[in-house]
Amino acid sequence: MKDAAPQKIYLSDYQVPNYLVEDVHLTFRLAPEATRVLSRITFRPNPDASSKDFFLHGEDLQLISAKIDGAEVTPDLVVGGLTCAVPDAPFVWEAEVEISPATNTALEGLYMSNGMYCTQCEAEGFRKITYYPDRPDVMSVFTVRIESDLPVLLSNGNPVTSGEGFAEWHDPWPKPAYLFALVGGELINHPDTFTTKSGKEVELNIYVRPGDEGKCAFGMEALKKSMVWDEEVYGREYDLDIFNIVAVDDFNMGAMENKGLNIFNSSCVLASAETSTDMNFERIEAIIAHEYFHNWTGNRITCRDWFQLCLKEGLTVYRDAQFTADMRSEPVKRIEDVIALRARQFREDNGPLAHPVRPDSFVEINNFYTATVYEKGAELIGMLKTLVGDAAYYKALDLYFDRHDGDAATIEDWLTVFEESTGRDLSQFKRWYEQAGTPRLAVEEAYEDGTFTLTFKQSTPPTPGQDQKDPRVIPIAVGLLNPNGDEVVPTTVLEMTEATQSFRFEGLTARPTPSILRSFSAPVILERASSNAERAFLLAHDTDPFNKWEAGRALARAGLVEMILNGAAPDGAYLDAVLQVLRDDSLDPAFRALALGLPSQDDLAQTLVDQGHTPDPQAIYEALETLKMAMATHMQDVLPRIYAQYQVTEAYQPDAAQSGARSLANAALSLISRVDGGTAAQAQYDSADNMTQQLAGLAALLTAGKGAQAVATFYEQWKEDRLVIDKWFGLQISLADPAQAAEVAEQLTQHPDFTMKNPNRFRATLGALAMSPAGFHRADGAGYKLLADWLIKLDPLNPQTTARMCSAFETWKRYDSDRQALIAAQLDRILAQDGLSRDTTEMLTRIRG
Ligand code: ARG
Ligand code: ZN
Repeated sequence: MKDAAPQKIYLSDYQVPNYLVEDVHLTFRLAPEATRVLSRITFRPNPDASSKDFFLHGEDLQLISAKIDGAEVTPDLVVGGLTCAVPDAPFVWEAEVEISPATNTALEGLYMSNGMYCTQCEAEGFRKITYYPDRPDVMSVFTVRIESDLPVLLSNGNPVTSGEGFAEWHDPWPKPAYLFALVGGELINHPDTFTTKSGKEVELNIYVRPGDEGKCAFGMEALKKSMVWDEEVYGREYDLDIFNIVAVDDFNMGAMENKGLNIFNSSCVLASAETSTDMNFERIEAIIAHEYFHNWTGNRITCRDWFQLCLKEGLTVYRDAQFTADMRSEPVKRIEDVIALRARQFREDNGPLAHPVRPDSFVEINNFYTATVYEKGAELIGMLKTLVGDAAYYKALDLYFDRHDGDAATIEDWLTVFEESTGRDLSQFKRWYEQAGTPRLAVEEAYEDGTFTLTFKQSTPPTPGQDQKDPRVIPIAVGLLNPNGDEVVPTTVLEMTEATQSFRFEGLTARPTPSILRSFSAPVILERASSNAERAFLLAHDTDPFNKWEAGRALARAGLVEMILNGAAPDGAYLDAVLQVLRDDSLDPAFRALALGLPSQDDLAQTLVDQGHTPDPQAIYEALETLKMAMATHMQDVLPRIYAQYQVTEAYQPDAAQSGARSLANAALSLISRVDGGTAAQAQYDSADNMTQQLAGLAALLTAGKGAQAVATFYEQWKEDRLVIDKWFGLQISLADPAQAAEVAEQLTQHPDFTMKNPNRFRATLGALAMSPAGFHRADGAGYKLLADWLIKLDPLNPQTTARMCSAFETWKRYDSDRQALIAAQLDRILAQDGLSRDTTEMLTRIRG
């Protein structure tokens, strides 16, 4: 039934469903290798459909029996599902199928993880549970009965009844099948309650495996904060009697917003001071918020089809970023997000996997849960908000929730709401959804008689399938500083709509220094001839925290490029400028920690490509090492003071203030360890009482070349904690000498705790190698071969995780012809595997180009 030639699906082929679903009853008789699923579904012909053909999706199902209106039928089993003759009027479909959760290693549909039953249905996993029109525009109320001796049996909605060996659930909110969820296991509950602003009591639970119950409190607080925040900021209340979260160890992605029953990768919900870093805490808080916010942006209003994925994901990422900014620090969150956007989304946009925020075709939709759909999708929401203004934005959102509640909506619906509520024409803005690629924004400046003119030119390089790009509307936030560093024009948003466009600032007394693209007001690459003196000036004086940081980054980048290309020494002006920032106690420590950070190896590789050079990964790595050593020596007097000053003496809290202090102290430690032989790092490692401090100590020891003993004791201390051991796997690889990284990774794949069945462990190991450019791109191709070997092994078990990791190769065209040949050989070797999944085939075919 499987392995037909992979079919490409087009947005332009969208057709309404032929049949609508009124009501779904499901009964699950759970058994590891022979779960029975009984469905009773009321269908009715869709009056808007042009065809009466009846097709239900189904994959890996064993059909036991089927009935229509009580009479046995024999459907035709076809590729990907079944067809059947049906009445031309509403009818009741009943089917019984058998599935095998215990052998489901793809982690899609109903599967088992460490003895517990769980589901992942987005995007198209429900068809592995029973025959169904598995598409997001078919929505229904669900009633679910679960039969099993397991103590905890959960599904969506509200509990109806439960007793010895069964539980029943009813979800009154019509939903598409991708939001279905079921959980069964011996789980421990961390309960709480929440009262909504209109006074409704909601029962909250976080369910975990025994042993993890001490890691739920933070997630629960994050959930309650999210619920309050969505009421206050977007006016959105929760709409069921109960909200359940379940932690699952084996999970392909981060988490899933199933109605009333969110399922989380345990790494994205379990937290404790001893086992989680500050970064883990921040991420967990954000993901809990993200999944909770989906209840309105995703569930109450869902997507018509999977091309509209950014409708829910872009908006929900935008909302969770607003939440994090409110809970913590807005500038710090913005800087972190832009670092991530450039690292993942710009990288995607620059290579063979570039696609529009709303793609117009796909083979496997799981391959489009990308940085472009999510993170660039969120940037589009941010630009829209900048263009229309805050008040108009929230007014439009109210209209959106009002008008489309209960709908499976489109990007057109979304934009229409904004057009109607603001009176703006958004046809040009829509190009952001339709055209792939990162616009380049070149700037020229002129000053004459008190008038300063900025002339911008926009252009977007071709991307696969899109040679020509039209100018987009770009909000450019600009401020002007006068020569003594005072701001003479505060942040002003210029609205660029033409390919080339000038903007004038009048009445100035001296030529100003512009601060352009403040807060990173649009996801573009600013191309501006600037001097190091000007960058240092902006780093010292810019009032916009993002651009202040950006100036430091540009200065670092320029110096590094000189070092890589011309063997220059580290730039003294850069060293002085960061030293000043470091010393400035009026600046947020978290900001200073970010300002001490350097562009990544990958960032520098792309910078070199943009300047017409072929990057040498080893040379990039060495330049960074040299610069870090120079920073450590240049700041030798100040770093120990900073390190001591920002030690947190109060009891551990994962809040912004404490994490900021720790991030600055640990940035200092990392430099100090390059010159003190690892003494400070060892002391921190030995005395640490939380994972942030312990892991930073371990990392600094590894950097100092003194990590061997700590690596061993760390393992002994944490071998029972899988999430901590993931860190242990990853760190040894990402901090290995690039000449050894492939061997270190290879040896770790032989470790008894390595398993490719657990996506977290697989990513911690092979993903760490793939994300260490100098190690991965070692000239002899050992990194490529090792990754390819493991992708070949993983693909038959878990196509989704395999396909995602193929993006390690997406930058291959940047490198020299020897490396390209080595990579091409590995891509071809994987592609030649018999029965290679559709997921991996699509990814590699696109990458191969
Ligand atoms: N909707 C989920 C989230 O963003 C992601 C689920 C994606 N899963 C997948 N298998 N493609 O929160
Ligand atoms: Zn999401």
